[in-house]
Amino acid sequence: MTGTKKLYVKTYGCQMNVYDSERMAEALGADGYEQVDTPEGADMILLNTCHIREKAAEKVYSELGRLKPLREANPDLKIGVAGCVAQAEGEEIMRRQPMVDLVVGPQTYHRLPKMMEALGRGEKALDTDFPEEDKFAHLPKDRRAKRGPTAFLTVQEGCDKFCSFCVVPYTRGAEVSRPVERLLREARDLVERGVREITLLGQNVNAYHGAGPEGGEWGLARLIRTMAAIDGLERIRFTTSHPNDMEDDLIAAHGDCDKLMPYLHLPVQSGSDRILKAMNRKHTAGGYIRLIERIRAARPDLALSGDFIVGFPGETEADFQATLDLVAEVGYASAYSFKYSPRPGTPAAERAQVDPAEADDRLQRLQALITSQQRAAQDAMVGRRVSVLFEKPGRMPGQVVGKSEYLHAVHVQGDADLIGRIAAVDVVESGPNSLAGLLV
Ligand code: 5AD
Ligand code: SF4
Repeated sequence: MTGTKKLYVKTYGCQMNVYDSERMAEALGADGYEQVDTPEGADMILLNTCHIREKAAEKVYSELGRLKPLREANPDLKIGVAGCVAQAEGEEIMRRQPMVDLVVGPQTYHRLPKMMEALGRGEKALDTDFPEEDKFAHLPKDRRAKRGPTAFLTVQEGCDKFCSFCVVPYTRGAEVSRPVERLLREARDLVERGVREITLLGQNVNAYHGAGPEGGEWGLARLIRTMAAIDGLERIRFTTSHPNDMEDDLIAAHGDCDKLMPYLHLPVQSGSDRILKAMNRKHTAGGYIRLIERIRAARPDLALSGDFIVGFPGETEADFQATLDLVAEVGYASAYSFKYSPRPGTPAAERAQVDPAEADDRLQRLQALITSQQRAAQDAMVGRRVSVLFEKPGRMPGQVVGKSEYLHAVHVQGDADLIGRIAAVDVVESGPNSLAGLLV
C-alpha cells in the first residue's frame, strides 16, 4: 500500500449513490487510493451515475467528454463508470467512449478490488451482474477513520413495485434487505467513529424485511427501535418510503421512539386516482390522505415531504388540479416535483405523451404552490425552540450550522466545538434556505 494514488469520485442522483460512493472509496482505499476533491491530477476517476430521469446517460457521456483532456495528459489515468447508467447501458458505454476502463453496476461494488487488478494488467473490466451475495459484506472498512456527525446506511435495495414510470426495478433489481446483525454492527461502528445521526436508506426502505439474529424477519420499525438502543446514537431517519408499506408499528414508532426524527418523506406522485392507477401505484389519493392523518395522530408535529410527477401520460388539467388540491390539503414542509420523463423499457414510456409545453406549465404551477407552502412552514418556525445537531462551520466567521429535528438547516453564532453535538436553539429568523437561531 502506497497511499499516494488519487481517487476522484463524482456522485449523481440519490442518497443511496452517496452511500455507495463512500463504500467504493473505502474499498479503493485498501488498494492505496486516497480521495481528492477535483478530477485534475487524479489517478482514477469514478462517475457514480443516476438513471432516474431525462438525459442521465447523455450527462455521463458529456462528462466523459470533458475528462478527455485529462486522459490525454495522463495515459495512466483510469476512468470508471458506476451506478444505474452503468447498469442500464453496460458495454454500450465502453463502445461509445473507449477511454472508459471500468463499468460496474450498483450490485457488484464488492468486486471492485478484483476489477482493479484487471485494470492493473492493462485490461478493461465490466460487471453488471445481480449476484446473490451482499455487496457491502465484503468491502474492507477502515474502522479507525473519523466520520462527521451524520451518515447514511443502506438497509434495503431494489424495488418490486414496478411503478409504470420508474427504472429502479430494472437498474437496482429486486428488493433485497440486509440482515439485522450486519446493520447493527455497521451502526455501532459508525457511532464509534463519531456519527450521531443515521439515515437508513432504501428505494423502498419501509418494505425492509431483513433476517433477524435468531431467525425470522424483522420489519423497519423493529430495526429502528433496536438501533435506537445504541448509546451515543441520537437520531434516526429513514428514506424513501412507499405509502403501502407504512405499517402500524412504523406509524407507532413515530409517536413513541424518541430518537426517530419527526420528518417523513412519503411520495404520492399524483393526486388523481386515474393517474395513480395508470402509474401502477396501487393506492388512491384518499388512502394516502387518511394514512397521513394516522401518522400525524401519532406524531402531530411531523414534517412531511413528498415527490410529484407532472405530465404523466394521459394527465389532463383536471388530474393536475387534483394534485394541486392534494398538496393544498396535506401541507408539505418540503416537496420535490418533476416533469415526467419517459424511461426506456418502462411501460409508461410507450404511451402517448403530454404536450411538453403543457407539462412545463404544470410543473411551474405546482412548484409555485410547493414553494409557498415550504416558505410558510419555514417562516412558522420563527419563535419556536428546536434541537439542532451541529454538522459544520457556517459561511460566516464564528457560525456553526446543523439540522433541526425537522431537517431545517439552522445556523447560530457559536464555537466549532459544538460540531457533533445537539443543542437547543431558539429560532429568530427565517432566511431563503435556512433558519437563524440563538443557542439557549
Ligand atoms: N420521470 C419523472 N420523475 C420520475 N421519478 C421517478 N421516475 C421518474 C420519471 N420517469 C421521480 C419520482 C420518484 C423520484 C425519486 O423521482 O417522483 O419518487
Ligand atoms: Fe420506483 Fe419507488 Fe415505484 Fe419502486 S416504489 S418503482 S423505486 S417509484
